[in-house]
Amino acid sequence: MKPIQRLFAAFAVVASTALAAGAASAQPIVIKFSHVVAENTPKGQGALKFKELAEKKLPGKVQVQVFPSSQLFGDAKELEALLLGDVQFIAPSLSKFDRYTKSIQVFDLPFLFSDVEAVDRFQSGPQGQALLGAMKSKGLLGVAYWHNGMKQLSTDKDQLKRPEDVKGLKFRIQASDVLEAQFRALGANPQKMAFAEVYQALQTGVVDGQENTWSNIYSQKFFEVQKTIAVTNHGVIDYMVVTNAKWWDGLPADVRKGLSEAMAEATSYANKLANDLNEQDRKRIADAGKAKIQPLTKEDLAAWQKAMEPVWKKFEGEIGKPLIDAALKSNK
Ligand code: LMR
Repeated sequence: MKPIQRLFAAFAVVASTALAAGAASAQPIVIKFSHVVAENTPKGQGALKFKELAEKKLPGKVQVQVFPSSQLFGDAKELEALLLGDVQFIAPSLSKFDRYTKSIQVFDLPFLFSDVEAVDRFQSGPQGQALLGAMKSKGLLGVAYWHNGMKQLSTDKDQLKRPEDVKGLKFRIQASDVLEAQFRALGANPQKMAFAEVYQALQTGVVDGQENTWSNIYSQKFFEVQKTIAVTNHGVIDYMVVTNAKWWDGLPADVRKGLSEAMAEATSYANKLANDLNEQDRKRIADAGKAKIQPLTKEDLAAWQKAMEPVWKKFEGEIGKPLIDAALKSNK
């Protein structure tokens, strides 16, 4: 080869390497967001908004794929899958983290928060914000809190007004020791079960009842297989959006920034929507006329609260009294 040919050959190698590198970096980062609820719920809408905003802010750099309704991973697998890098974002209910941090159990204490606004104040405060980072040593990083709403109690019985009405009944619960203690305090039999299995368990009588928000009761059609839904508002179902801490820290800075902004905007969008969606679904359940919606008096509610009181003492040590006090202060 003549020197000039060698020069051309070398140039061709450099150019093709640069092209290949360019093509590789032009591939968007694929980001999977898996969750267990339907799309027309607060979390479902939040995930779709995050996709829309992230792809708008980082055109060509990220592709967000949202998998609702346990299609990709259900309750039993999603946290492990996140740690293994098989999914990049999930948003489990706050009840599903007690294997990773005990303090987060504060959210499950019955009758602690008066409403979702109080929950929001606690989450936005220093203790709530600190909890987002409490699982980092385990590889999980909390990036946002998303609201769903307050829980209502339902059974396949006509009578559901007082705590004694649930004695001996079987209830599906989320994987939470606090919720297990809550139903034991009522003399009921709790059974931990993945969300995707609840409808069938209610339909076939494997369990008699469950607790959930209006949006979940509606979108999962629980109201079609339950006779009574008591308006207890006895606890909250909210979410922590979590990502794999190592993956997050390894992202290019501009991508991390764009994703953080998209997450913040999707959070305020979803959190504004949550209350309206739950209210709309409460009305739809009432209109369907299948399950009776049972209002409770102050005296009824006081009886439920009293029956569930032992749970607080049982978990005070694990959660820490200062955290419980801070949560209590967020009630107005
Ligand atoms: C449940 O398992 O009952 C809910 O927490 C599901 C969800 O993510 O809202």
